[in-house]
Amino acid sequence: MQVVKSISHLRVLLDEPRRSGRTIGLVPTMGALHAGHVRLIERAREDCEFVAVSIFVNPLQFERKDDLERYPRDLETDLDVCRRADVDVVFTPSATELYPTPPLCVVDVRQLADHLCGRFRPGHFSGVATVVLKLFQIVLPDRSYFGEKDAQQLAVVRRLARDFNIPVTIIGVPTVRDPDGLALSSRNRRLTPSERARATALYKALCEARSHIAGGITDAEEVTRRARAAISPDATVRLEYLEVVDADMQPVTVISGPVIVAGAMWVGETRLIDNLGCIPPAADLEA
Ligand code: PAF
Repeated sequence: MQVVKSISHLRVLLDEPRRSGRTIGLVPTMGALHAGHVRLIERAREDCEFVAVSIFVNPLQFERKDDLERYPRDLETDLDVCRRADVDVVFTPSATELYPTPPLCVVDVRQLADHLCGRFRPGHFSGVATVVLKLFQIVLPDRSYFGEKDAQQLAVVRRLARDFNIPVTIIGVPTVRDPDGLALSSRNRRLTPSERARATALYKALCEARSHIAGGITDAEEVTRRARAAISPDATVRLEYLEVVDADMQPVTVISGPVIVAGAMWVGETRLIDNLGCIPPAADLEA
């Protein structure tokens, strides 16, 4: 496995697999790798002949300086994870390598970023789309892999590839969960043992929403009202949002087909997100 810090070196290294017609898969990450990332890499390994992983904590997508500073970083362990997962190249650029000067051109994400996390993290999806566009330009992957846990990010990246005619296939990979349902996230590392015990409240609320939808409740507000009630807020836990949206991340009022129920919850100083795809009974019969 090669570890590469510079864009020019990475381009030289990717030249051979590209010329020999090998399929190149890219797994973009911000490091602090966990079993969810390993699943993305395994999927890339199954599909592609050459697998690149990027590890870069992208300052452009953090709207709060303290959040950027507190984001977990553990490069040596990440490299071990990549080695064990049979990655071909890990790209670990510095911030000055990717942004030698503050960028004057960034991707403006419209509509898709109006709801869910976009409402609470202004500029976040512009930062994500900008760095992903840069990584696509640098690596020129055939396929790229993103977790379904970040459903809104996945929708933005799919749309980015379409709107900018980027010849890359975007693959969404199902969320990996701990046995009690908590979605794996690099941010889980920040939870204290007592916070970790409360962190499943979001998943439980999403399951509650899913069972109401499966049970035939079609009023999205009624579904979210009941799901919210499943979380008892206390000094540790605060729900930021819980919404029912369609595949374009737009709010749904009447549930008549497949929807996504998505939420964000603060546990102490840590913000967690999660979502579940839900199918109402009528749509289930049609499928
Ligand atoms: O999901 C992430 O880890 C990041 O948002 C991504 C896609 C690597 C862009 O920085």
